[in-house]
Amino acid sequence: MLLPIEEDVLKLGALNELSLSLQGYLEILCNKKSQLDGVKINETGMLYEKGAVKDDDDCKRRRVAIEDTILQKGTVKFCDVVGLTNAKQALKEAIIMPLQFPHLFTGGRQPWRRILLYGPPGTGKTRLAQAVASEINSTFYSVSSSDLVSSWVGESEKLIKELFHNARSQLGQSVVFIDEIDSICRKRSMREDEYTRRIKTELLKQMEGTDHSASPQHFILLCATNCPWELDTAFLRRFQKRIYIPLPDKEARIALIKMHLAATPVSLSIEDWCLLGDRVEGFSGSDLSNCTSDAMFEPVRELEHNAHWKLDKNLFYSPCSEREDDCIHSLLIDLPSDKIQPRPVTLNDFLNVLSRNTSTVTKEDVERFEQFTVNLGQKG
Ligand SMILES: Nc1ncnc2c1ncn2[C@@H]1O[C@H](COP(=O)(O)OP(=O)(O)OP(=O)(O)O)[C@@H](O)[C@H]1O
Ligand SMILES: [Mg+2]
Repeated sequence: MLLPIEEDVLKLGALNELSLSLQGYLEILCNKKSQLDGVKINETGMLYEKGAVKDDDDCKRRRVAIEDTILQKGTVKFCDVVGLTNAKQALKEAIIMPLQFPHLFTGGRQPWRRILLYGPPGTGKTRLAQAVASEINSTFYSVSSSDLVSSWVGESEKLIKELFHNARSQLGQSVVFIDEIDSICRKRSMREDEYTRRIKTELLKQMEGTDHSASPQHFILLCATNCPWELDTAFLRRFQKRIYIPLPDKEARIALIKMHLAATPVSLSIEDWCLLGDRVEGFSGSDLSNCTSDAMFEPVRELEHNAHWKLDKNLFYSPCSEREDDCIHSLLIDLPSDKIQPRPVTLNDFLNVLSRNTSTVTKEDVERFEQFTVNLGQKG
């Protein structure tokens, strides 16, 4: 028979032992839990390390991001790009002819594989690239720097790697077009941070890598910029063709205005066109597009205040002078809205618009481009 005090000592010992073994179990459970936190179970019940799953997800995400930049065949054709004969020729030689006549590009005769288009804003660089995309039967990646630059450290390099890998692994020819390349390939500077340096190094590595791939002729890199002098010379050197896309000349300016007018009725004589062509000297293609839209609107602006109309044989009302025979006096609001025909666009409409608008490209800009072309480029 145990004394009460001995009984207590035994109980205490048992409790101590129990607590020790529970602590052991707790430790084992904690270890298991932390192991399970690092793994994930997939659909087949297999365990994967979570890091691997995350990498796998990231790869997929990058692949999707790059594949999103692939352009479906567009509608812009070479004939929709006005002027720029040399640039079109170089692009045909580099991209279209090797596809149509592959036997011509064997041995020493190789197409250009890296082309840089440079010139003032709004001169048709992007449009030219869109035309290439729709003229050929190849995979066309249209990438802007924002598709490649990520705020996550190391992510941009991986995106660049994925872009080149994806393009090289296509069965047929692939064309990568990087617009506004200057935002990723600026000259190296002392103040440049490690991050941008790494992006550029990766891009250079990939550009070199394509030359040493099994079929380098299947990969073409097309880039565009409007400040080529800001590009790192290491990049500039790697473009076999650097083509200047200048402001349109007189003939191209007239053709561009006519293209933008499309089916809008106009009333301009040959002399008017000649005068207009001179008046818009220094305007870029996009300046001309804006001015033409504005000029086309002038006849519409007048309608609101017009009070004299004539009715044509198709029963359309168009503005006229109050002295004209059969002149109808009415406010715009009182006429059937689908039966109103503005007057044709005239030279005066353009001159009005031009008195309010100027070219967005300055003479100094043009001089800088021309100087760059003399030193490092070729006229497009
Ligand atoms: N040569 C051209 N032929 C036809 N349209 C043109 C031409 N040049 C400019 N345009 C017109 O100007 C607009 C802008 O052209 P685009 O975007 O190709 O210019 P860009 O040179 O790429 O300019 P940026 O350097 O600012 O990117 C086009 O939508 C088009 O309407
Ligand atoms: Mg552009």
